[in-house]
Amino acid sequence: MALAGTAIRTSTPRANLRSSAQNISERLLRRFFPSVSLLTFNPVFRTVINGMDAFFPLGFEEFKSLPPNHMRVRVGVGNRLFGNQVHYLLAAKDFWLSSFANYGLTLSANIVDLGCGCGRYAHHLRDIKLPDGSYSGAYVGVDIDAEMIEWCRKHFDPRFRFHQSTDGSSSYSRKSKMETLYRVPEMDGGADFVFSTSLFTHLLEEAVGHYIRESFRLLRPGGIAHHTIFCTDYLPLTFGSRHTFRHKIGNAFVESVRQPEAAVAYSASRILELAENAGFTTMTVVPGMLQSTLILKR
Ligand SMILES: C[S@@+](CC[C@H](N)C(=O)[O-])C[C@H]1O[C@@H](n2cnc3c(N)ncnc32)[C@H](O)[C@@H]1O
Repeated sequence: MALAGTAIRTSTPRANLRSSAQNISERLLRRFFPSVSLLTFNPVFRTVINGMDAFFPLGFEEFKSLPPNHMRVRVGVGNRLFGNQVHYLLAAKDFWLSSFANYGLTLSANIVDLGCGCGRYAHHLRDIKLPDGSYSGAYVGVDIDAEMIEWCRKHFDPRFRFHQSTDGSSSYSRKSKMETLYRVPEMDGGADFVFSTSLFTHLLEEAVGHYIRESFRLLRPGGIAHHTIFCTDYLPLTFGSRHTFRHKIGNAFVESVRQPEAAVAYSASRILELAENAGFTTMTVVPGMLQSTLILKR
């Protein structure tokens, strides 16, 4: 069952003018570049943004272990092309604080991170040190991006394993799609927690349905799946500027027909139906400011 939600927005005339100008420039930019992630594969673009990165780590020890800027921009740092390190780190830290509290996870939880990118979420579990120990579970990351998977394999210890999915994407790779969708090479029922952040927002319906079924297969009974989505019932604050979801492909609402996976939204009823078809019986969609969350219990 989806929860009802309302967004409260207040503004002044000056703020309205500023946000109209921002909306117009966002729309223009998005017309030519539906997704910033693809730009990060361009050698000139990445040289420029990685070059700027060299100035920021000065004096900040914790920035030195981060992936290069072009990877951080590729996975999403709120369109901050420079100086995005804090934003990159905080998003994942807040996620773990609330996930450990809400889902009763422990430091030995087995976790699957679908669309793991360059390991933003694995980063904190690798480094966390608490009075009762460090992370001791098995962490599996899955992504289609060969460069980021290779970076993760080099920068994480054996508690963390990374698989490269063979799926394609109009926004995150130039590979054409395979006939069959990627099966995560992990055993059934071995995971306590399967999650994705900003993955379903880049997948068409067949792939979303597949990863929900994979979540069901991978989770132990009682395990939790947590997937962030763009939900048409709870429109993001960026609706009307960066997002409009004005095109439809099957049940998916997309921003760009040319690059459908740049941004994809679903109705709560459709996403819950996909979860039910996968075998889940306990499920909800929780509204959020930018993305909502599909929460499922096996
Ligand atoms: C917006 S990024 C988010 C990355 C990561 N979750 C984070 O928040 O840092 C989306 C990620 O999904 C990956 N991706 C896109 N399509 C995929 C698919 N079919 N299977 C696995 N990963 C995919 C992209 O390569 C990219 O790393």
